[in-house]
Amino acid sequence: MQENNINHFRINKICCVGAGYVGGPTMAVIAKKCPNIIVNVVDINKNRIDDWNSEDLSKLPIYEPGLAEIIAETKNKNLFFSSEIDKCIEDADMIFISVNTPTKTEGIGAGQTIDLTWVEACARIISNKAKGYTVVVEKSTLPVKTAQTIKEILNSSRRDINTNNEKTFSVLSNPEFLAEGTAIENLVNPDRVLIGGDDNNSIQLLKDIYLNWVPENKIICTNLWSSELSKLTANAFLAQRVSSINSISAICEATGANIKEVSKAIGMDKRIGGKFLNPGPGFGGSCFKKDILNLVYLARYFRLDEVADFWEKVIILNNWQQNRIYKIIVEKLFGNVNGKKIAFLGFSFKANTNDTRESSAINIGNYLLKEGAKLSIHDPKVGFKQIEDAFLTIDQDRNNIKNSQWEKVSNIIDVFEGADAAVVLTEWSEYRNINWDKVANLMRKPAWVFDTRSIIERDKIINTGLNLWSIGLGF
Ligand code: NAD
Ligand code: UGA
Repeated sequence: MQENNINHFRINKICCVGAGYVGGPTMAVIAKKCPNIIVNVVDINKNRIDDWNSEDLSKLPIYEPGLAEIIAETKNKNLFFSSEIDKCIEDADMIFISVNTPTKTEGIGAGQTIDLTWVEACARIISNKAKGYTVVVEKSTLPVKTAQTIKEILNSSRRDINTNNEKTFSVLSNPEFLAEGTAIENLVNPDRVLIGGDDNNSIQLLKDIYLNWVPENKIICTNLWSSELSKLTANAFLAQRVSSINSISAICEATGANIKEVSKAIGMDKRIGGKFLNPGPGFGGSCFKKDILNLVYLARYFRLDEVADFWEKVIILNNWQQNRIYKIIVEKLFGNVNGKKIAFLGFSFKANTNDTRESSAINIGNYLLKEGAKLSIHDPKVGFKQIEDAFLTIDQDRNNIKNSQWEKVSNIIDVFEGADAAVVLTEWSEYRNINWDKVANLMRKPAWVFDTRSIIERDKIINTGLNLWSIGLGF
């Protein structure tokens, strides 16, 4: 019956619940590519909605290359940011759930499985407010089988309480594979679009949206559970590559091999491929850790302990990489950083984003603060408040530090004034072109540069009198 009802159904209005790093850019691109569809993006965070609605595009809550231009083109034409959640859900033919899915912190599965509080809240409000037939799309990354939970909640109210009209739902999984910093490029030209579902009509409705700009051979349709699991697996594989190359970086430093040469040599093998072989201070970002932890939880739940142990090692290696970099910094500074000024170049978890979630700079910074170091932090897109929140969240007893022990500096040259060391933590392009001759005069000697991203040319440093330690090369 449902299939008959929706044979001629067209998607005219979309609602996306969650105006974050995924909801904002994803819906902006859908709005641009589908000018006949009205796209409403809603959020419980009113400040975030106000920021999206700001006339000044430099105030958008998310920095992402190319995003502001698309927002300028589509906002208040067919793309709207709103706090009227109920109304936008009522009006929608298709609803994307794009809310946060952090790791659970208390109770069963704490520290491993996903906290579904926000997803469940969405399902309940959709169940109450949606009208007629609605396609509900999981855009958030979710534990395998969450679609079942969503279906059960949605189907708990089958009739509109005001009109007594029947309401029906289809649930699809459509995980997002964008990476921050390249989100627009990834959305406009995705490697693939994955749609998991168990009814062909709703799959086709979502597919038709993507067909406005994605070639059909890049749209893969699977069952729900394959789709949910593929997303976790993709992130686990990517993170595993970062941990793999980071483990080899340590062997390079110990043996005199050069990580760049090793990366190039292995990456030219087509079976390995050259991407995601850059060593670094450990992967950050809101998802790799939480998604692997979720995979580990799933494996343990099914008593696949060896599988769980295997994936858990990816995270253990990542923590170790952050820790060993901190220890190298302290060792090179004569085992003592108390009262010493250390310049941080970058605080976001990668270049071209203002996102600091799980950034290695937080852990490495926190370790150094505990040793008594004074941090002078530069980042072109991360603000003071974000850094303050990050340090307070990681170590809640340390309210007293605030900015007496660290400072956020806007002019990059100021971070070097009197510093004993500079640590490159994010690969922002401007850090590749620093005038090290000028900088060397400002630092207190003997001074060190620690390049955790391997972006600084050794030739530019060695004649300045500065010492250089590079990831995967050492010295
Ligand atoms: P985010 O925290 O930036 O955004 C989520 C937003 O949802 C927040 O603004 C929050 O206020 C809002 N929200 C929560 N509950 C709500 C509710 N009941 N009603 C309305 N709004 C609500 O998170 P994000 O980075 O956009 O990630 C969202 C999901 O996408 C996660 O599952 C994540 O794993 C996945 N994902 C993220 C990325 C990424 O690059 N950040 C990439 C792919 C997938
Ligand atoms: C990652 C995935 O790449 C996306 O496909 C996925 O959609 C997303 O997670 C998600 O689910 O949230 P993202 O975290 O934005 O995207 O960024 P990545 O480019 O994957 O980088 C993650 C971390 O690994 C960063 O800290 C980065 O510096 C580090 N990294 C990456 C390296 O250290 N070396 C590399 O070679 C690549």
